Amino acid sequence: MSGITFDYVEQYIKSLICEESDILREIEEFAHKNLVPIVQRETARFLEVILTIKKPAKILELGTAIGYSSILMSMYANENSKITTIERDINMIEEAKKNIEKYGLTSKIEIKQGDCLEVLKGLKDKYDLIFMDAGKGHYNHFLPECLRLLNKDGIIVADNVLFRGMVANDELVKRRKITIVKRMRSYLDIVSKDKGLITSVIPMGDGIAVTTRRKIIDE
Ligand SMILES: C[S@@+](CC[C@H](N)C(=O)[O-])C[C@H]1O[C@@H](n2cnc3c(N)ncnc32)[C@H](O)[C@@H]1O
Repeated sequence: MSGITFDYVEQYIKSLICEESDILREIEEFAHKNLVPIVQRETARFLEVILTIKKPAKILELGTAIGYSSILMSMYANENSKITTIERDINMIEEAKKNIEKYGLTSKIEIKQGDCLEVLKGLKDKYDLIFMDAGKGHYNHFLPECLRLLNKDGIIVADNVLFRGMVANDELVKRRKITIVKRMRSYLDIVSKDKGLITSVIPMGDGIAVTTRRKIIDE
């Protein structure tokens, strides 16, 4: 049970998603076998749709793992898109590099090793799309840096924002997860209440929040 929506709804949505490309299926199988957390299929499909609509030229990802979502994004973004992805775990990076090389995407995907917050502070470029998928307990800390790096019309897609339903319902909260839940609620509070931002929370996968800058309409 995901704790996000009814099981039958989840199963039905999953059943609508066609088979992955061979490239992604291979990485997905490796991830499942080795318990590497990667985006759920419905979240992957959501990203594909957003990328197809938005066609971002520059993408920033927090949390590379073994490169699954980077490779997926690079397949659906612009031909000339560049992805910068941050990961602190050296073993994950080794595996991601192998996958990225294998699929000829080395010139399109750059991995930056280190803690997201530290790496973010050192970045200067602006990004059209930022995908937050690392350090669930720190999205609220990453947010100011992500907003600094976000293009005027850019969007932030944050995964796992409902965290197995715990963020929406105290009765589901496991004691050892309290800090993550509190911080995730703080993230959602900020992106929902900040008058300069507009956010939609989607109860899909583990919960996705899409944020962009609110357009100010002259009165
Ligand atoms: C959910 S996985 C990313 C999955 C990947 N986006 C995908 O779908 O293919 C999260 C990754 O973030 C990394 N991570 C967690 N906290 C981090 C932090 N503070 N800085 C950098 N990497 C972090 C973990 O090592 C893990 O590999």
